Amino acid sequence: MSTSCCRMLSLMSLLPLLNATASFRPCPGSCLCYRSSDLVDCRSSGLDQVPSDVPKGTWLLDLSGNKVEDVHTRSFMGLWALRILLLSNNSIHTLHPQALLSLQFLERLDLSFNRLRSLPPDFTQSLSSLQELRLDHNLLKHLDSASLEDSDNLRKLDLSHNRIQYMDVRAFKSLSRLRLLNLQGNRLNVLMNGLLSRQQALEVLLLGHNNISTIEAEALAPLRSLTLLGLHGNQLEHIKFKTFLKLQTTSTHIQMSRNPWICDCDLQRVFGKIQHVRHLHVEDYKDIVCHAPPQQAGSLLASMDSQLCMAETATVLVITITVMIAVIGALIKAERNRKNKQAASDAESAEK
Ligand SMILES: *[C@@H]1O[C@H](CO)[C@@H](O)[C@H](O)[C@H]1NC(C)=O
Ligand SMILES: *[C@@H]1O[C@H](CO)[C@@H](O)[C@H](O)[C@H]1NC(C)=O
Repeated sequence: MSTSCCRMLSLMSLLPLLNATASFRPCPGSCLCYRSSDLVDCRSSGLDQVPSDVPKGTWLLDLSGNKVEDVHTRSFMGLWALRILLLSNNSIHTLHPQALLSLQFLERLDLSFNRLRSLPPDFTQSLSSLQELRLDHNLLKHLDSASLEDSDNLRKLDLSHNRIQYMDVRAFKSLSRLRLLNLQGNRLNVLMNGLLSRQQALEVLLLGHNNISTIEAEALAPLRSLTLLGLHGNQLEHIKFKTFLKLQTTSTHIQMSRNPWICDCDLQRVFGKIQHVRHLHVEDYKDIVCHAPPQQAGSLLASMDSQLCMAETATVLVITITVMIAVIGALIKAERNRKNKQAASDAESAEK
């Protein structure tokens, strides 16, 4: 009797507590909340803004595939526990200043497939724990020095498929732990000296499908850990051996097909030399197609390995042979003169 009374009592005292927990942790109308894992799933729910009643303890918030257009200063207010925030495939065109201010423990942020044209200068100001940032498939045109200033824990940065033409040379200066940088499918023209000066840890650098025609002499020098360098689908006509020799790595694979290569003896020599450097591997050498001069257009560089330097070799040969003939001629003439003089002096002494 006494035990059942006490059981009743303890249960009754627990009830208000349970209620309180429930009222502290509401679930936004169109979302599914998994309380045991602090996960809130609001995927493809037709939301046009970030719901205001996301439980404070949420660890993962998935808002992908909605119709959110802008992220306000108060959108994520108080969500201190958030580690993963997925906002891909919305229509976000504006991130208001300090919109991400409370997300100090955020590790993954996915803003891919949106409509961002620029990043606010303080974009990563409080994102000091961020390790992975996806900004691919937006409309970014440039990258300023301040936007990514405070994310020195970033390991993966995806900026592919934007319209980036200009990047401040200091844009990546605080990202010294970066391992993957994807800039594929942008409009970059030059790979600048100094842009990657802090990226000693960078392992993968994807620059394919840009408009790069120039790689500055020191641009690759800081990349001590690089294993993959994608440069296919750019506007490279020529490269310098020294620029690639500066890659002091253990092993780097390089992709360079689909560029408008001008196949001359010089280019052939550069590729020949690169292939003799043990740690450099031109992965797609067999697919490198010449764009110019007209007589080589469409041919594979690999298929005419010694041909391109033939003309040069022939010229050198002609010059050498001409010089040799002239020297031999001169020697014969000199010898003949000597003999004539000898004969004359012999005759003279015989006369005496
Ligand atoms: C984006 O979301 C829409 C609607 O939810 C969906 O149909 C589409 O497949 C998604 N696209 C991507 C790239 O995820
Ligand atoms: C691509 O680069 C060429 C020079 O190599 C330049 O003339 C052209 O304007 C560039 N295109 C874009 C879209 O930046």
